Amino acid sequence: MQTCSPLQTLFEQVEGQALPLPPRLAHLYGALVFPAIPADRPYILSNFVETLDGVAVAHANGESLDISGSNEHDHMVMGLLRACADAVIVGAGTLRDAREHRWTPDYIYPPLASEYYQLRQQLGLAPQPLNVIVSSSGHIDLNLPLLQEAAIRSVLITTSQGRARLQQQSLPSTLHVLVASEQGPLSARAVMETLNRWQPCQRLLVEGGPQLMGHFLAEGLIDELFLTLAPQLAGRDDREPRPGFVSGQLFLPADPRWGTLLSVKRAGSYLFLRYRFARPAPASEQTAQIASIPSSA
Ligand SMILES: NC(=O)c1ccc[n+]([C@@H]2O[C@H](COP(=O)([O-])OP(=O)(O)OC[C@H]3O[C@@H](n4cnc5c(N)ncnc54)[C@H](OP(=O)(O)O)[C@@H]3O)[C@@H](O)[C@H]2O)c1
Repeated sequence: MQTCSPLQTLFEQVEGQALPLPPRLAHLYGALVFPAIPADRPYILSNFVETLDGVAVAHANGESLDISGSNEHDHMVMGLLRACADAVIVGAGTLRDAREHRWTPDYIYPPLASEYYQLRQQLGLAPQPLNVIVSSSGHIDLNLPLLQEAAIRSVLITTSQGRARLQQQSLPSTLHVLVASEQGPLSARAVMETLNRWQPCQRLLVEGGPQLMGHFLAEGLIDELFLTLAPQLAGRDDREPRPGFVSGQLFLPADPRWGTLLSVKRAGSYLFLRYRFARPAPASEQTAQIASIPSSA
């Protein structure tokens, strides 16, 4: 099957080990290098697409608008990241908006289905990543196509109330419900630990949306961001705030977050950026650092 052209690498500085990409994937993406998996928790990737003016979510007439222009290179990269992950995690808002979607590599980019599958085999992963949905309310349509798909195992991470709501209906055999806390919103750490206890994972991929991403970033649980910059302007106004890929959290000025650029790739006018985010220092070290700043008074 015909695929997109190779991405052009403009900059790359990543330390670690290259994943064993099948030749066609290596030709299209280049080497994909990741640092070692941390000892204490899975390595957590995230992937978003934004317009040049920083819009990740836009709606008109109740329909979600296309941010990436259905770009083939973007889909190829999404498939690659899904192929490396034990699980893809999304918030319930993203699920409700993409009713037909399946968070698998071959669904987003069918031409490389067999390469993605080979890569997963090489990495010792299950044929498809777990599809993980996070919801406090448990308001999930159990008839969604994802939940009818025998080849995909889905996990809903929710509250006690969310589970009680779902248990009033008959659950599809593909869906497993895990309770992370009595009440929502769930902390990102509780989501990660609940999942990891149920099935130990090495690499997780957070695919949004902005609210869920905000929780993971706020808790210092995003190691890397893969960001596609689509060369369009979406605009925003008071009626259409159109968020970027973080909602519900303020970092500046109290808690600024700076990333380190790991790679820049290009296809036509699209840019594919990759940033690493350092883990925040433990609270005790932060207090010590503040205490050691000399007073200007
Ligand atoms: N540009 C991109 O790359 C990209 C990527 C993904 C999504 N999107 C877009 O993002 C939009 C959705 O945005 P959103 O910010 O509403 O997305 P979201 O985070 O997917 O959904 C929010 C909902 O997810 C659940 N949730 C999220 N974090 C939670 C937490 N910590 N604990 C418990 N529940 C949590 C809650 O569900 P309950 O209400 O059920 O409790 C919440 O109402 C969609 O239009 C989608 O197309 C864009």
